[in-house]
Amino acid sequence: MKILTLDGSPKPAGKSDTFRLSSRFLAGLMKQDGMTNETIRLIDKNIKPCIGCFQCWHRKDGTCIIEDDDQNELLAKFRDADIVLLSFPLYFYSIPSHVKAFLDRTLPLHQSQMVQEGNRIAFQPIEGLKHTKFVIISGCGFPQWDGNFTALDIICKNAFGPDSTRIFVSETPMLHQEAAKPVTEPLLQRFEAAGEEFAKNGCLSDATLKSLTTPMLPEKDYMDYANARHAKY
Ligand SMILES: Cc1cc2nc3c(=O)[nH]c(=O)nc-3n(C[C@H](O)[C@H](O)[C@H](O)COP(=O)(O)O)c2cc1C
Repeated sequence: MKILTLDGSPKPAGKSDTFRLSSRFLAGLMKQDGMTNETIRLIDKNIKPCIGCFQCWHRKDGTCIIEDDDQNELLAKFRDADIVLLSFPLYFYSIPSHVKAFLDRTLPLHQSQMVQEGNRIAFQPIEGLKHTKFVIISGCGFPQWDGNFTALDIICKNAFGPDSTRIFVSETPMLHQEAAKPVTEPLLQRFEAAGEEFAKNGCLSDATLKSLTTPMLPEKDYMDYANARHAKY
């Protein structure tokens, strides 16, 4: 199985809190025989914004009319993957702008015809598109899930389908802090085990998802901890 990992943090390689989690999930996935992976850092790619021309709906070949940037190469890899692991930090309750530019430009993978899928209406995928499994991992700096990740969850359900695996984790700045290791290390281990579970079952149990997304510290403790660190600013 081919995995395409898209790292959407704009930070230098090795510095993303979110990617610390994603790379452990990936390590778990890779324990399964026959897995291959390519990791791409989206910030390093030249991805122009969508110009809304809908020429892709005439082309129908999964390519974009903008040919002087990296998107068509990325689209080919995206189409070829069995599993796409998309990792990015929460920015203003949503998706960082360079990741959003990439996602907007996946429109060529859809046809112009709307179809009813359960209780959502979506565009039909272009012919020959694989049934890719999507895992979306996002980290954020506030302690609460509700209100903070609510919009992102709706966006991802619509964009990647209700059966996509969405793992949204609050309090992630602790992942680069030595003093927080007693709570971050067990979480990282759970991410690796979850990757193994996903490789085996193609999904995560509700109990596993809960174990990944339950905040590492109670809200008040985290706020005190974070505010003490932020006092240096
Ligand atoms: C521009 C910007 C916007 C952010 N918006 C939010 C937000 O809406 N909610 C939140 O909890 N954290 C927010 N954060 C904090 C990041 O999500 C958090 O620091 C995360 O751990 C960074 O992940 P990374 O290291 O993978 O890039 C924001 C950070 C930046 C720089």
